[in-house]
Amino acid sequence: MITNRTFTMIKPDGVENGHIGGILEKITSAGFKIVAMKYTQLSKRDAEAFYAVHNERPFFGELVEFMTRGPIVAAILEKDNAVEDFRALIGATNPADAAEGTIRKLYATSIGENAVHGSDSDENAAIEGAFHFSGREIF
Ligand code: TYD
Repeated sequence: MITNRTFTMIKPDGVENGHIGGILEKITSAGFKIVAMKYTQLSKRDAEAFYAVHNERPFFGELVEFMTRGPIVAAILEKDNAVEDFRALIGATNPADAAEGTIRKLYATSIGENAVHGSDSDENAAIEGAFHFSGREIF
């Protein structure tokens, strides 16, 4: 398994609020190389599958509704120690707890609408990347 990659999405709030450019700038200036990227929208079935690990949680319905309400930017990023370094770059799930300078501190509005996703393990990075991209879309 390739372990120097992670998967991200700029979530519907980040797109709606005009932060695609700002978020991509933070990502590339932190040393991540974009190896796959697309502008797309999740179906309800996509979002339920992507977040299946949370399907018993009280926020699951709202999460699916939010993630499907508008387009997202999905991308695979490459860098040494990608998963851990990207989690540090995006900051805590709740922007109120996120460190200064992190993407969620800068651009997220709430725990539910937190601007950006980052895989939490190498295994999930591979699964999530394959969910969105075929081999010929990864460079
Ligand atoms: P989680 O995997 O815990 O966070 P992260 O995105 O930082 O890996 O949760 C997935 C998403 O679910 C999170 O980004 C936003 C949403 N969520 C809520 O809406 N409320 C909550 O209390 C939690 C924990 C998550």
